Amino acid sequence: MERNTHFISTRLEQRKQENSLRSLSTAGDLIDFCSNDYLGFASSSELRSIVNKELESFPDYLLGSTGSRLISGNDIFTEQLENEIAIFHDAEAGLIFNSGYDANLGLFSSLGQRGDTIITDEFIHASIIDGARLSHANRFIFKHNDLDSLEEKLKAAKGAIYIAVESIYSMDGDEAPLENMINLAEKYNAVVIVDEAHATGVFGSEGRGLVHKYGLQNRVFARTVTFGKAIGVHGAIILGSKPLRDYLINFARSFIYSTAGSFYTHLSVKMAYQFLRSKNYPELIADKINIFKEYTDDISNQFIKSHSTIQSMIISGNEQTRMAARSLQNQGFDVRPILSPTVQPGKERLRICLHTFNTDEDIMKLAASLKKLI
Ligand SMILES: Cc1ncc(COP(=O)(O)O)c(C=O)c1O
Repeated sequence: MERNTHFISTRLEQRKQENSLRSLSTAGDLIDFCSNDYLGFASSSELRSIVNKELESFPDYLLGSTGSRLISGNDIFTEQLENEIAIFHDAEAGLIFNSGYDANLGLFSSLGQRGDTIITDEFIHASIIDGARLSHANRFIFKHNDLDSLEEKLKAAKGAIYIAVESIYSMDGDEAPLENMINLAEKYNAVVIVDEAHATGVFGSEGRGLVHKYGLQNRVFARTVTFGKAIGVHGAIILGSKPLRDYLINFARSFIYSTAGSFYTHLSVKMAYQFLRSKNYPELIADKINIFKEYTDDISNQFIKSHSTIQSMIISGNEQTRMAARSLQNQGFDVRPILSPTVQPGKERLRICLHTFNTDEDIMKLAASLKKLI
């Protein structure tokens, strides 16, 4: 036994030595500058009562979905929800997965056939990396947001070519040059897949995301929209063509071999999408982002350039970044350190997430504390 498990303690010890040991912590009552609940939906008592009220119309709802969508876990409610969300984002069809991780895993692992090529931005989310790894396709990585580097890879790519980008990058908060990338992709007969996890609810008309904002919905092959961030619930949908939806139902293993999400989750997603249209949320969150940028203007060179809810201040070094986060936490701000290997060594950072519920005063105080770190 000892011989088989020795590597567990060795690897954990190694993480400790490198100051990169991950551990779980609970939120406490600090001011939230770290969650993905950008619009405050997860904590909205108003949305919660809308969900609970709606639930009264379904007194016999099942606590669990009872099976995979392909066996006993499907219902008309879920299919209608997929359709409504697809219409909202101006897509032909959509297929709900249990999480954004599952969605990307299922999409990329099933798409890439032997001889095909999946090209990803170097900062792409782990779920896309894992999906591409599970596929049979060749994998190329291009330099972050770099069109020349992308073109180099496109020239070398073979078979069906899929380019994966995030409209807003989860760790840097910056935006992909979507239109230019699509132009380039079309030149090489490649298709683009956009992960809109951090743009949904935040950008575009009524929060439809950046693909919709730029009118690119008919020029992308698929979009991943997640429900666990600005939508405030859990799960995700892949948006694309009807044949793509059918294909995923047949070949995406994370969809096929997993119990479907619960009715409660799907109802909450439906209500959250309605709630999203009740106010101009993209404008509300843009105000908070602008306030933060204004207050941190004189230290803006410490930040990765971003106009999104994710503002990353580079500290450098796991221990230094941990200490900086701890100091902010001691002052009442829930700011988390992002360490290597999650990000490149030297690029360790404080990842500050902004929310509609952060008061201007709290943002101002946080900015003042950030300045003292320099
Ligand atoms: C860009 C991106 N894609 C996908 C995911 C995964 O989504 P989920 O948290 O719903 O599994 C995340 C979450 O961190 C993300 O940042």
